[in-house]
Amino acid sequence: MNPTHTFDVLVIGAGAAGLMAAIEAGRRGRRVALLERADRPGKKILISGGGRCNFTNLHCRPENFLSANPHFAKSALARYTPADFIALVERHGICYHEKTLGQLFCDGPADQIVNLLLTECAAANVRIVLGADIRAVRRDDTFEVTTQNSIYRAPAVIIATGGLSIPKIGATGFGYDIARQFNIPIREPRPALVPLILTGAEHANFADLTGISAPVTVTCLKRTFREKMLFTHRGLSGPAILQISSYWNAPPPAPNISDPIIIDWAPNQNILAPLLQSAAGRNGNTAKVALRAHLPARLADRLVDVAAPTSFTNHALADLERRLHAWPFAPTGTEGYEKAEVTAGGVSTDALSAQTMECRNVPGLYFIGEVVDVTGHLGGFNFQWAWASGAAAGRAV
Ligand code: FDA
Repeated sequence: MNPTHTFDVLVIGAGAAGLMAAIEAGRRGRRVALLERADRPGKKILISGGGRCNFTNLHCRPENFLSANPHFAKSALARYTPADFIALVERHGICYHEKTLGQLFCDGPADQIVNLLLTECAAANVRIVLGADIRAVRRDDTFEVTTQNSIYRAPAVIIATGGLSIPKIGATGFGYDIARQFNIPIREPRPALVPLILTGAEHANFADLTGISAPVTVTCLKRTFREKMLFTHRGLSGPAILQISSYWNAPPPAPNISDPIIIDWAPNQNILAPLLQSAAGRNGNTAKVALRAHLPARLADRLVDVAAPTSFTNHALADLERRLHAWPFAPTGTEGYEKAEVTAGGVSTDALSAQTMECRNVPGLYFIGEVVDVTGHLGGFNFQWAWASGAAAGRAV
């Protein structure tokens, strides 16, 4: 007979959201067990931000999140702000810096953030159980969670098992399975913040530019980002593309029609103006020279080669200028969960209280972090959602 342990709160998943929820609940005197499948907590934190953890963003606003309900995240984000997490980071003496666009990174390795969270868990008497293989979750008058060697009982269970991104470090669909078990609706999960794949002529035109990057604006479905994009051997990546991928992935307006993404290669610049001066020659070479003032030479040359008009009349130059500011790509897919930083979609916010993250129809059951249909832009927003939703649940249980 497996031993039975009784707690006030069970948190399943010791990632960013689960650790924060456990800390907040433990600080309030709740007896908390944090059940983690992996052999160590916070694995995704360790690999985040290129190993430096972009732990929040100074400019965090509800507009930085995708969700079927754009209002859902507002309450939690307002009650646990970037300043709250920064205060925690400073209390633990962790040095950090703003890299760009409000993105805060550790100066040192990301394990400082995991250590911070584990220190806070210890201070809040959270019991962390690693290697917990959860076999069943049942509910009668309370919840019962069965692992390979124990039974845990508590009146509240917080599901913080994240999304499907990066299966090789242990991502599972556990949270969605629990949602289905309790008849909680799910919005179809999909890879987000993910490189896009080009095929056919688009791939042939640009594949040999692998590694070349450029600052651009990229637009899809009325969303625009101004950041760097990068050519890869399979297609497009870099911050601009990762950001727009979350929107590109949205269901297309008509079946089988891929939304184009539109690149402006030199925003707000009159690229071909030098060719309009009377002394300047008008040909492919002068067009390349003009574009090289804004882009790496190989990329500038390739764009002109692909788009060069047969004549260089005023009308043709105006057309080329327009094309360079609205260059369409039609990706045929994404690089999938293996490369996606996050999973968009997830447990429907319709089913949850925006104040507490508790399921409206299943009292005592909570969902937080990436498993919920709230997905941040690139730049520290996903951790801020993990902290904020974790704090909301941890303060309510
Ligand atoms: P998370 O996935 O972190 O944690 C879930 C936990 O549940 C894991 O520990 C997992 O092992 C556990 N688990 C899963 N199934 C289980 C089961 N059946 N039983 C028990 N435990 C189970 N964001 C950001 O804001 N800034 C950044 O710098 C980065 N960088 C970044 C880099 C890379 C490479 C990736 C893949 C992602 C990022 N992100 C990011 C995104 C960020 O890491 C992510 O949004 C959060 O970690 C989500 O936190 P959660 O706690 O919700 O899930």
